[in-house]
Amino acid sequence: MGTPVDPVPEVIRRALADASDAPGYPLTAGTPALRAAIAAWVSRACGAGVDGLGVLPTIGSKELVAWLPTLLGIGPGDVVVVPSIAYPTYEDGARLAGATVVRTDSLTSLGPTPRVRLVWVNSPGNPTGRVLPAAHLRKVVDWARERGAVVASDECYLPLGWSADPVSVLSPQVSGGSYAGVLAVHSLSKRSNLAGYRAGFVAGDPALVAELLKVRKHAGMIVPAPVQAAMVAALEDERHAEEQRERYRARREVLTAAFTGAGFTVEHSEAGLYLWLTRGEDCWQTVDWLARRGILVAAGVFYGPTAGQHVRVALTESDEHIAGVAARLA
Ligand SMILES: Cc1ncc(COP(=O)(O)O)c(C=O)c1O
Repeated sequence: MGTPVDPVPEVIRRALADASDAPGYPLTAGTPALRAAIAAWVSRACGAGVDGLGVLPTIGSKELVAWLPTLLGIGPGDVVVVPSIAYPTYEDGARLAGATVVRTDSLTSLGPTPRVRLVWVNSPGNPTGRVLPAAHLRKVVDWARERGAVVASDECYLPLGWSADPVSVLSPQVSGGSYAGVLAVHSLSKRSNLAGYRAGFVAGDPALVAELLKVRKHAGMIVPAPVQAAMVAALEDERHAEEQRERYRARREVLTAAFTGAGFTVEHSEAGLYLWLTRGEDCWQTVDWLARRGILVAAGVFYGPTAGQHVRVALTESDEHIAGVAARLA
């Protein structure tokens, strides 16, 4: 269903243990070492320059997704745009703030509205595995800048490109070399098997990040000190991330062959942690058909009203279970 199952890499566990004597309050902004590690990783992975880049650790990325509209002072009368088929927390966060949610992938369909305050994009996408081209992201950023809206780009699957290369909103081809109005949201949950640690971060517009820091300090949204140390170790080590990526690549190949062989159509899924599948029938029929074979998937309707004929299959199972799925579908 989507929770990491492989071990936390030893180098990260050791950093956590070494930092366990932590009697004082941690820094909401992150330790200097963590801030430097985030900036260096963003520069490598997103092709972003570090000059003028705001960075801030978060308690996993879900809490930021859920609270970003509130933290930015968005409220009743404001509009938050979310992808038509999306991770549910974008909508949940807008509702927590009392804002209006519009689901669309095409901003031109919105018309000239000044009410849009925040636009979420998610590439590679959950649940579809869709990758948005740089030109598309650039149009979103230009559109939002013209209207004074913020673009929040959830990039937690960025390191998992398979048949397409995901592009960050912070890359110069999208941002135009300025971070004005853009925030990239990242997570170590999947890259480094750290879902249990709650380790994420946000990077982008320094003024927006400063505003988030100010509110989060007062609201007690602080990443624990041992987790901050673990994040430094995780961000400075690419080897474990590459090993984990190869595990997912192998599982993806087995599952793609198995589901295709069983008559499923794989759509998008060019990156990320999921296969987006359809048999051209109501998703609950597909969920039921698979459940009878002992295979658990997520129904497409969880992610949007237009996804009623799809199911989402996660690559996050042990090799043994993945082989079991292939055997049951054969
Ligand atoms: C698109 C997307 N964003 C954010 C998250 C939250 O991840 P975490 O809170 O573990 O960083 C997930 C988790 O599955 C996700 O799929």
